[in-house]
Amino acid sequence: MFDAIDHVGIAVEEIDAALETYTGTFGMALVHRERVPAHGIELAMLAVGAEHVELVAPLASDTPVGRFLSARGPGLHHIAYRVADIDATMATLRGRSVELLDETPREGALASRIAFLHPRSADGVLTELVQR
Ligand code: CO
Repeated sequence: MFDAIDHVGIAVEEIDAALETYTGTFGMALVHRERVPAHGIELAMLAVGAEHVELVAPLASDTPVGRFLSARGPGLHHIAYRVADIDATMATLRGRSVELLDETPREGALASRIAFLHPRSADGVLTELVQR
C-alpha cells in the first residue's frame, strides 16, 4: 500500500534559521519553498537522495504547527508515505478503521495530493499520504 517514505516532516520555529543547518551544515539541496496560508505554514523541501526532509514552520502561533511547537518544541513532526492512488488508499484505510484527519485529499507541495491520518491510528505518529 505504501510505496516509499516520501519525506520526514520536521517542525521548526523559523525556516531561514533551520535552513542554515540543513543546507549549510548538512549540505542538503533546497528543492522547494512555499508559504501555504490555508494550512498556516511555510515549508521547505530538501533532497536526501530520492527522498526529502520537509521543514515546516508556523505562520502564526494559533495554527496546528504553532501549537505543536508550543507544546513540544521543535522536532520530528510527521512521516509521509508515497502512494500510487491516494483515493484508493484512503478508502482501504477507512475500511480498516483508520482515523483520517482529511475527509478528501488536499493539495500539497509540488503539485502533490496529500492527506493525514490521526496519530491515534499510527502508534502516536502523525502520518501523511502523498500522491505525486
Ligand atoms: Co509533509
